[in-house]
Amino acid sequence: MLRFLAYLTLVAVAAGGASLIVTRPQTIPDSAIAGIEADLARGEQAFHAAGCASCHAAKGAEGEARLILAGGATFETPAGTFVAPNISQHPEAGIGEWSRAEIVTAILAGTSPGGAHYYPAFPYGSYAKAELADIVSLAAFLETLPEDPTPSAPHDLGFPFNIRVGIGLWKSIAVSNDWVIDTRGDETLARGRYLVEALGHCGECHTPRTATQGLDSTRWLAGAPNPSGRGTIPNITPGALDWTVDDIVAYLTTGFTPDFDVVGGSMTSVVQNLALLPEADVRAIAAYFKAVPPVE
Ligand code: HEC
Ligand code: HEC
Repeated sequence: MLRFLAYLTLVAVAAGGASLIVTRPQTIPDSAIAGIEADLARGEQAFHAAGCASCHAAKGAEGEARLILAGGATFETPAGTFVAPNISQHPEAGIGEWSRAEIVTAILAGTSPGGAHYYPAFPYGSYAKAELADIVSLAAFLETLPEDPTPSAPHDLGFPFNIRVGIGLWKSIAVSNDWVIDTRGDETLARGRYLVEALGHCGECHTPRTATQGLDSTRWLAGAPNPSGRGTIPNITPGALDWTVDDIVAYLTTGFTPDFDVVGGSMTSVVQNLALLPEADVRAIAAYFKAVPPVE
């Protein structure tokens, strides 16, 4: 991703004003969400399904402490190190002063209140497919969480990755709102698809990337290099994963594999989140995995 982002950044800088018009950050105005009533229970489920705490809770936080969104988790990439910001309700350190539309815009469009593009280390490219009512409810749920005064730390990125303007071009090429599989009217599969492809952003880790650094829908969930540069993330299509639906549900809620191995690495916090969802949702995710095209 990073070599390509470097290229985009240079193109965007070189093309100056012209490319700024093409890649102007999108926003979701107050008027678009004005008629939507927030439902806190729905927002809490969306929060867990979307794994916000995996990145925004303090490093190593467990249980209730995962609701203190102080930030500070770091993500090493070849471009440098990203640091998750404080998104607690603190008025200065966090997002306590943001309007609901500004929060929804960050999550669905990857645009900051000041009109800058966010880096895709924040997986808004997947969240873009989420239902507006879920994200409005999620924003309302965030408003009920505690304040934390820890200031957000800056990312540690070298040139040209420290320039955000190229991200606009990347968004216009690589972010797609098309669903990957056809659920043919099956409600369970449609729910599973929503949880995996949109909120759960499972493809951000499990799907390899194309030359333009979008997710490769022809090798969907077929495994990918770990963005940290160490090791790989497994293929979870039926071409590699022969677990039953019950095996998958058990893994996603307890962390145990059918051979009594235990989940590790970045999947650990995904399991902590999914364990908080209704069982029907986890079953829908497992059903979806059985329906994706197998890749060997
Ligand atoms: C994989 C890690 C990851 C996940 C999951 C994630 N974020 Fe983030 N988030 C980030 C990073 C990294 C940034 C900083 C992006 C940048 O600076 O361009 C960020 C930025 C943000 C910002 C902007 C904060 C600011 O000060 O400008 C908000 C708001 C936010 N995330 C909310 C959320 C919510 C809500 C969720 C769950 C729906 C979520 N994030 C899930 C990593 C993540
Ligand atoms: C932040 C990256 C990341 C995200 C996001 C992610 N995974 Fe994973 N996943 C991993 C890693 C790493 C492993 C390997 C875990 C291990 O080695 O113990 C894994 C393993 C798995 C496995 C077991 C595969 C096997 O053969 O052992 C399943 C099933 C799975 N993930 C499902 C999901 C689902 C469902 C989602 C979305 C809700 C998801 N993953 C999101 C990183 C991720």
